[in-house]
Amino acid sequence: MTDFNTIDDLEVSGKTVLVRADLNVPMQDGKVSDTTRIDRLAPTLKELSSKGAKVVVLSHFGRPKNGPDAKNSLRNVLDALSTAVGQKVAFAEDCVGDKAKEAIAKVHDGAIVLLENTRFHAEEEKNDPAFAKQMAELGDLYVNDAFSAAHRAHASTEGVARLLPSAAGRLMEAELKALTLALEKPERPVAAVVGGAKISTKLELLGNMVRKVDLLVLGGGMANTFLFAQGTDVGASLCEKDMADQARAIMATAKEANCEILLPKDFVVAKEFKAGAANRVVAFDAIGSDEMALDIGPATVEFLGVKLQGAKTIVWNGPLGAFEIQPFDAGTNAVAGLVAARTESGGLLSVAGGGDTVAALAHAGAEDKFTYVSAAGGAFLEWLEGKELPGVAALKK
Ligand code: 3PG
Ligand code: MG
Repeated sequence: MTDFNTIDDLEVSGKTVLVRADLNVPMQDGKVSDTTRIDRLAPTLKELSSKGAKVVVLSHFGRPKNGPDAKNSLRNVLDALSTAVGQKVAFAEDCVGDKAKEAIAKVHDGAIVLLENTRFHAEEEKNDPAFAKQMAELGDLYVNDAFSAAHRAHASTEGVARLLPSAAGRLMEAELKALTLALEKPERPVAAVVGGAKISTKLELLGNMVRKVDLLVLGGGMANTFLFAQGTDVGASLCEKDMADQARAIMATAKEANCEILLPKDFVVAKEFKAGAANRVVAFDAIGSDEMALDIGPATVEFLGVKLQGAKTIVWNGPLGAFEIQPFDAGTNAVAGLVAARTESGGLLSVAGGGDTVAALAHAGAEDKFTYVSAAGGAFLEWLEGKELPGVAALKK
């Protein structure tokens, strides 16, 4: 990764290092309910601390629009952060100004200080230069470890990176490495597996993917829209009929770009969207008018097994069926299991991320077996759309 400095390029001992983290973690009953992002951030903080830096953590949390409020305070994640880094993390009531300066001045080298939610200031999302300058005043160096917030051109993700010597943190480094290997310089053939409910939210992604990959597997509700666009009756299935033209345009682009699109051969259908609903397996073009396709069927799983056999690289986004309710998780589980097994036996690089994907792969027991599963949602999707992420661009040498 010659484009970016990493922590290896910084002399951090005795310095104050601002680290942009993504502590925007899910909460339940006032407690962090999934510590994945915190656990993945911890190595960067621990490394900087052990190298003798004062580590100052910047992050947003939620989407507050009217200044400070207790619900969106980063105090809510302080204990979980302390646990993850194995030391008591200090807290400052503000991310800029005297409160931040005093909290940082009070601690010794090697300490970690968490600053209050950057979004408590409206200037953050406006990427206000004066606000970025106030942040930059707090430290000597800037490390961005928030790939999952890098699609936002905000003061703490973009503005401040331009004001201080900056580098990618270890998590950012891992994300960029995985995504570059998967999509920028992949070993071919490269396949993408794209699922999820709607094509309307993934038009740009699909448009970019068909130009980059050799094989595009479509599943989930969006596959129904493609089948409908080809003249198939999808019954009562989820289907964006007004997106048929866009689906046809993507298929035409795929043809020009020599990308083969694979649509389901069969489905598991039901009349009700609920766990354990009575269901049957039908060919893709035999869905009853009152039936919904809720998962890909066994013939599709077998077909995908054969088709994905030769792939050297697989990028995965989105579930292939209604994986939240059984038994409609079977298709996603089976294909994820197949990708996981091939990754484990060598010869396949598999990268997944975005929205529901992590949950779907975790449910399939495949999360730890993929080469890399991104902790990013929107940022991962924008990368797949071929967009340059402002937070990443600002780190370029
Ligand atoms: C996320 O959770 O996807 C990131 O933290 C970005 O949050 P945002 O969508 O509120 O900018
Ligand atoms: Mg988001």
